[in-house]
Amino acid sequence: MSSKPSSRSPDPSAPRIVVLGSLNMDLVLRVPHAPAAGETLTGHSIATIPGGKGANQAVSCAREGAQVRMIGCVGGDAHGQALRESLERDGIDTAALRTVDGEPTGTALILVEDGGQNRIVIIPGANARVEIDEAALREQLQGAAFLVTQFETPMDQVARAISVAHEAGCKVLLNPSPVQAIAEPLWSRIDTLVVNEIEAQTLCGQSADSPEEAALAGKALRAKGIARVVVTLGSRGAVAIDADGARHHPAPTVQAVDTTAAGDTFLGALAVALGEGQSFDEAVRLGIRAAALCIQQPGAQPSIPQCAAVLQSPLPPDWITL
Ligand code: RIB
Repeated sequence: MSSKPSSRSPDPSAPRIVVLGSLNMDLVLRVPHAPAAGETLTGHSIATIPGGKGANQAVSCAREGAQVRMIGCVGGDAHGQALRESLERDGIDTAALRTVDGEPTGTALILVEDGGQNRIVIIPGANARVEIDEAALREQLQGAAFLVTQFETPMDQVARAISVAHEAGCKVLLNPSPVQAIAEPLWSRIDTLVVNEIEAQTLCGQSADSPEEAALAGKALRAKGIARVVVTLGSRGAVAIDADGARHHPAPTVQAVDTTAAGDTFLGALAVALGEGQSFDEAVRLGIRAAALCIQQPGAQPSIPQCAAVLQSPLPPDWITL
């Protein structure tokens, strides 16, 4: 499977997706295990890899064939330039990506353990300087299938963007990560919410540790006014919750090398499939297949698969109605 980015122009009939979010240069340390407090550890390797939840989700949408526009900020430094060029190689429109001189580009320090699990610390840098131009955003959202956003840029600006999208009739796909409380008026402006088990628990106050619990948590979140909720469960797949109830979508069994950007890969594939008019369950299945390929490769953006590879990958087991 090759996920090498190609300099390409997206198909003009493909869904248009606007991503508001973070761009980070990931400083990735591969370690045998996460060090305990006071422990000094010798790691295996270090690498600098393009990442950031917003940028990763934009790349995932682009590699699934969508026309993607990225809204965000990078610093006026070499990392910012590298991240911009990396998106452009994937055919992503960076006209709304602002360079903030005097601010460092966002950085993520990522420890990846031998089992593929990661621990991430983010220094937001220029991501903290994102400001929404409401008139420009309204124009950018015209004809877009989704506004996709997360919480690695300032919450007040994310909230403004969600409200603008809602008023403009553009659906919002929110990945509230890193998780924080969602203001009450925003809930009903979200079309699709994608959360992992920890985020689900934080937002609704009930455990989402098993498919059954995730279904109940997802139903509680949906009751706040959202059409569709996905609770991702890592190697156990995901639970999709909508007006028809809850379904557990198991994941194929694969050997995880690095789980970084698995959630972002899932979300991009889900957004594009929904934008193409595929059913919610088919979109979730596609996201699971894309994420399963992602975790078999190291790094964030280099591990996000191209659409052709996803379509050639094994089908996951059938879903189970809960
Ligand atoms: O979701 C993975 C991403 O989280 C990493 O690329 C890192 O930059 C952080 O934003």
